[in-house]
Amino acid sequence: MSTSAVFPYSDKVIERIGNTPLIELKNFSTSKTKIFAKLEWYNPFGSVKDRAAYWMIKDAERQKILRKDRSIIIEPTSGNTGIALTGIASHLGYKVEIVIPEKVSKETKDILRKLGATLHETSDDLCPRVGAGTDQSIALAYAISKPRPDVYYMPNQYTNDSNYFAHYEGTGPELWKQTNGKVTDFFTGCGTGGTITGTGKFLKEKNKNVKVIAIQAQKNHLLQGLRNFEESAKPELFLRREEVVDEWYTATNAESFEMVKEIAQKENILVGPSSGSVLASMLEFAQKEHDQGKVFVGIFADDGRKFRSLYKEQGIFTDEEFDKYLKRSDFLPELAYNQ
Ligand SMILES: Cc1ncc(COP(=O)(O)O)c(C=O)c1O
Repeated sequence: MSTSAVFPYSDKVIERIGNTPLIELKNFSTSKTKIFAKLEWYNPFGSVKDRAAYWMIKDAERQKILRKDRSIIIEPTSGNTGIALTGIASHLGYKVEIVIPEKVSKETKDILRKLGATLHETSDDLCPRVGAGTDQSIALAYAISKPRPDVYYMPNQYTNDSNYFAHYEGTGPELWKQTNGKVTDFFTGCGTGGTITGTGKFLKEKNKNVKVIAIQAQKNHLLQGLRNFEESAKPELFLRREEVVDEWYTATNAESFEMVKEIAQKENILVGPSSGSVLASMLEFAQKEHDQGKVFVGIFADDGRKFRSLYKEQGIFTDEEFDKYLKRSDFLPELAYNQ
């Protein structure tokens, strides 16, 4: 079956990548500190990863590495990068194979299949353990792609500088403009480190006093998209510019899920787990703040629609509660696929 038969969307989809909204979370702002969230699920395939995926594919096209109707893009990923790569690549006429840990949510895998990806499942942890030698996802992606360089292309978000430039050229300038240069502190979760290094570098070049706070997950976590950097080494892409980080925050599963619930109750926004982690860190730093006039900006990487079963399993929302917040949320745009 041709991809276009499965997936008849318009050329406008690619143009919708980036320029996501920034909103104030008024019920979390304090007299000293305004709390803003950048809603990355406004990207057409639903997460911050659309940016990196698009830049990596475009860069490979520029280098003439990809050929329509022949090339297969393969990538080890725990979800959002896979969704973004598959959606964008299918749109541009390339096939995609995703190597994915079996622990990843059923909803995520269903979306990937619906978008036309072939999945190779491994028994890995949620995030590929870069450098650990035992990581099956990365090893398997290499094993499949290496013998067939004429067909397979692995963008490798863990080393590919386009992942950094997507944020240096996109997310950073957007935030600077959206806050009229008033951002004082930037918060984001870290997977590959593309978001934090690209956005952080840009903001610090504009104002060296901007503080950059990196959020990692606790060990053995359930926070899709984040990593714990004791469990797994920092990716090469992160190491190239890690000096951009001023402070670290380690988010627990429990506080992140608790925060997901609180955001739904107070702001009527249904967010993904890592947005809970980011807000938890912002509130902790806001509490320690002595100065007036702080403008905190956090990356809300994806929304909650993919996490119904996880939230139910973890006792965060019953199906009824989930549906209630789904209905109430004013901030869930139509995605380029149906959930
Ligand atoms: C779900 C999700 N994906 C990706 C990222 C960012 O990843 P990266 O460091 O790879 O840019 C985050 C960061 O918060 C995230 O929550």
